[in-house]
This record gives sequence, structure tokens and C-alpha cells, in this order.
Amino acid sequence: MSLNDEIKRRRTFAIISHPDAGKTTLTEKFLLYGGALQLAGNVKVRKQQRASASDWMDLEKKRGISVSSTVLQFEYGGCYVNLLDTPGHKDFSEDTYRVLTAVDAAVMVVDAGKGIETQTRKLFEVCRQRGVPIFTFMNKLDRPAKNPLDLIDELESVLGIAATPINWPLGNGQQFKGVFDRLEKQAHFFEKVPGGSYRAPVSIMGIEDDEVKAQLDPTVFESVSEELAMLDEAGHPFDKEQILAGELTPVFFGSASNNFGVELLLKGFLQFSPPPQSQTTLDCGELDPASEDFSAFIFKIQANMDPRHRDRIAFMRICSGKFERDMTVHHSRTGKKVRLSSSHKLFGQDRETLDEAYAGDILGIVGHDEFGIGDTLSTNPKLQFRDLPRFTPECFSYIHGGGAAQFKRFRSGLDQLLQEGVVQSLQIHGSQQRIPLLAAVGPLQFEVVQYRMETEYNAETRMEPAPFSAMRWVQGEKSVDELAAEISLPTGVRIAEDIKGYAVFLFPEEWAIRYFQDNNPSIKLIELPPDVVENFGSELTG
Ligand code: G4P
Repeated sequence: MSLNDEIKRRRTFAIISHPDAGKTTLTEKFLLYGGALQLAGNVKVRKQQRASASDWMDLEKKRGISVSSTVLQFEYGGCYVNLLDTPGHKDFSEDTYRVLTAVDAAVMVVDAGKGIETQTRKLFEVCRQRGVPIFTFMNKLDRPAKNPLDLIDELESVLGIAATPINWPLGNGQQFKGVFDRLEKQAHFFEKVPGGSYRAPVSIMGIEDDEVKAQLDPTVFESVSEELAMLDEAGHPFDKEQILAGELTPVFFGSASNNFGVELLLKGFLQFSPPPQSQTTLDCGELDPASEDFSAFIFKIQANMDPRHRDRIAFMRICSGKFERDMTVHHSRTGKKVRLSSSHKLFGQDRETLDEAYAGDILGIVGHDEFGIGDTLSTNPKLQFRDLPRFTPECFSYIHGGGAAQFKRFRSGLDQLLQEGVVQSLQIHGSQQRIPLLAAVGPLQFEVVQYRMETEYNAETRMEPAPFSAMRWVQGEKSVDELAAEISLPTGVRIAEDIKGYAVFLFPEEWAIRYFQDNNPSIKLIELPPDVVENFGSELTG
């Protein structure tokens, strides 16, 4: 297959949702169709074991949540699929946000009984700001669901995105019998199988078929007919260009746990979602994925993923060209040449050596301590991607070590986690206290730090909440010392330095920011570090 053909068949996406909407279940069902699991983990069994292929960290199993993201790869219908698993806990968003920088599309799972929930909204915003196409799966139709027309309205009124239903539910709850494919004009009736683990048998027929009427309760048949007529007349028509521009979301209905509508979603997604697109570089303009130059950026670093190996994996997204094991590339941060020999394809906890990969693929490289998040690797030394977007911390905590005897372990563990970007660290100006101050988007990130410090570095830690709940960087070149000399700080406000040496102000409350700004109009506060603001301009997420 030519380079271009290999790239065109790549689909790289993530599933986003509010916790409990059914992301894990849907992931497992996708894997079932991809043949990646003979039997996608039955959710009931999973409840007892609290583990699935994409949950590998003890903490995840203990809490039944997905903390770290992994990559699942499978083939279906001629496509090569990279599914990036994103953590779904509402407290833990920074890692998820970063993962979303590496995808070309997203599937948004909505619990049809609940509608759009808070975490879905946040994740949707991150995808929208990147202009990524978003596919919607209305899940749990086997339970009483909101009216499907209201759900479509909610996408438009709450998220502000136009929606075009690709299929439409034939009833809900006990009455949920199947879906009507509006593009093919065919009804799909599902047959319930115990546990929903196997591919659900489906019978397909035209809507005029008497069988359709016979299978549905008369009131359901009537309302579905009315709804379909209404959609044909007043709904948003299907428009692939708008979908690809992220302006229109195609909507699918179904039930992940019963495996109803999942294959239709997968097929529709692969058909209408984009292959890898060109990427913006700093000095070389737009980069075509089929370019001869190999290029990739690192979006995640994870140490000690496998306790048997105790090593460090840098996850990269290939943006252009072909990867071949042992190839030599330029590393943007150090300017040095590096050989990529230890390349892996990852599947949950298992890894497999990977000899070749193409633009769109995600791969893990083991053992390069010099790699950091946002770094570019390329055969063309001039190529460099923009830094990854960052997010403004809202949670702050001091971290105490377990005493002098553990100091070395404490320091090396913390340094590693900081380099991975698990949390950020700050140094308060003028403070004699050497206790590190950590900053995060969500409090679960602190829990992950504590857990990993203990299990991976044998370093006990204690967290002490710090009295801040907001932070802002300062536009311009002024150093922390200059700002400290210039400004008299209101009560509770502190000035600090981030890991790159940029000055930040820490505030006890959100309102204190406005008060501070009113009293210091010459200081321009910004939500992200100045170098990031410069790189991203209007695409920023705060
Ligand atoms: P998440 O990753 O988005 O957090 O959600 P997950 O897939 O873990 O699903 C959350 C709960 O919703 C699970 O139930 C799961 O079985 C259930 N679920 C997923 N899809 C459907 C669906 O289509 N219909 C119905 N009725 N339920 C669905 P649980 O009680 O938390 O766990 P378990 O006992 O099922 O393992």
C-alpha cells in the first residue's frame, strides 16, 4: 500500500463523556467489532473485577475510574483505528485535555436519560476549540430516555452545535426495538442477547415494510413517524463538509451495554470522520501528512506503566510520513539527533514492538529521559510544532515528604512526575519555606501524585491544602523580583514563579483577581503562560 493510502485509512479519535455515560462500555464494544477482544469484557463481570483492557493502574481499579490514558488500536472495515482512551473522572481533566490534542475526531457519549452533563460540556469545548469533528452517541436507550427531539435540541441549545440525526430510535426503555437509518432509509431491529457481549443479531427492512409497523407498539410507530417527518422537514440536513469542519454533529442512538446501534455508529464514524489532516508548524507552514518528512509530537509521558519494567514511555502522535524502527530523528528541545529503537504499540498493559507506523498513529517510545511533553521529533530539523495547549490550575496544595531519610526518593519521584506534567510546581517568592507548592486543574491529580510517589518511589507524602483557588500569569517580560518590588500585594495574594521562571499571581478567590486588576491596571493578567499565549493566540482554552 502506498504511503498516502496507509495514511488515508487511519482514524485517530477519542471518546469523551461525563463519567458513567458509558464510555468504557462503548470502548469495549468497539474492540469487539475490531476483533481486538474475542469477547469484549462483559460489563457485569467488569464490575466484579473492576478492570478492563484500558484500565491498568491500581488506582484506577481501586476507584473504578480511568486515570491514565492508553491507546487501543484495531482494524475495522479497511480502516486502521487508533482509539485514545481518555480519563473520564470529572476531577481529572488536564491529561484528558492533552490527549485531545492528538486526535482527529471525537465520539461524544451522552446518557440519553440525563442529556448533556457538565464534564461532557467541558470536553466538548476543548474539541470545538480545535475544530475537531464530533460524533454524538446517545446511549442507554434501553432505559427511559428523554424525548429524542429534546436531546437534539439540547445539543443545539446547550452546546451550540447543529445536529443531524443519522439514525433515530424506535422507542425507548422497554419499548426500544431498534433504530431507523435516515440515510439508508432502513429500520434495524435488534435482538437482545444475554449480557450484550456478542454482536447483537439485527434484521433490516424498509420503513414502509409492514413488519416495521407490526414490530412496534402503535403509539411508538406513530410518534416515530411524526418525528421522522418533522426531521425531514425542519432538521439540519446531512452535510459532510459541515461535519468535517466541526460545525455539525452526526447523531446516533443506541445502547452500548446491549450492543445496539454500536456497529452502525462505528461504521458511520469511520465513513464520515477525517483521516489525518495537515498540521500547523512554527516555521514551515502547514505540513501535509503524506509528506516524506517523518514528524511527530509528544503529548503524554508516563513512567512505571509496567511495574515489571519500571521505565518511562513517551507517547507520540505521528503527524507526517512513515515511522521505521531505529530511524534517527531530530529532537526539537535539545537540537540533538536521537535513534528511535524502543518503539511500542500499546494495548492496555501489554506492549508489542512496532517496526512501522504512519501519520495518524500513536506510538510509545521507551527510555528517553530527555523527551518532554510538546516536543517535536522529525527527520527535518527545521520542523517544529506549536507547544501543546495548557490549562489554568484551580487547585493548590503543598506536598510534604516523609523526612530526611526519604528525601532523595521524594525528590526524584516528584521531579519525574513534574516532568510528566501530572501536576505543575510553583515557588512562592520570598518564602523561606522549601516545601513544594503544587498546582493542578483537578484535586484527583494530587491523589495520583501521592499514590504514585508511594507505590513507584516508596516515598510517603502528606498533602496540605494551600489557601489559593486561582492563578494568573503576567503578560510581558517582568521578572518575579521586579513585580514584587513594584506591587503591594493585597491580603491573601502571593507572587510566585512557575517551572519556566514566569511570574504568576496566586489568589485566594476568583473575585480577588478582579479587585487586583482594578487596582493594578498596568499589569495584564493572563490565564496561561506568556509563551503559550504567544503560540496559540485565539485558540486558547482557559
Ligand atoms: P464510563 O466509562 O463513561 O464511566 O461508563 P461505563 O461504561 O463504566 O458505564 C457506566 C454504567 O452504565 C455501567 O453500569 C454500565 O453497565 C452502564 N451502561 C453502559 N451502557 C449502558 C446502556 O446502554 N444501557 C444501560 N442500561 N446501562 C449502560 P454500572 O452499574 O456502573 O456497572 P456494571 O454493573 O454494569 O458493571
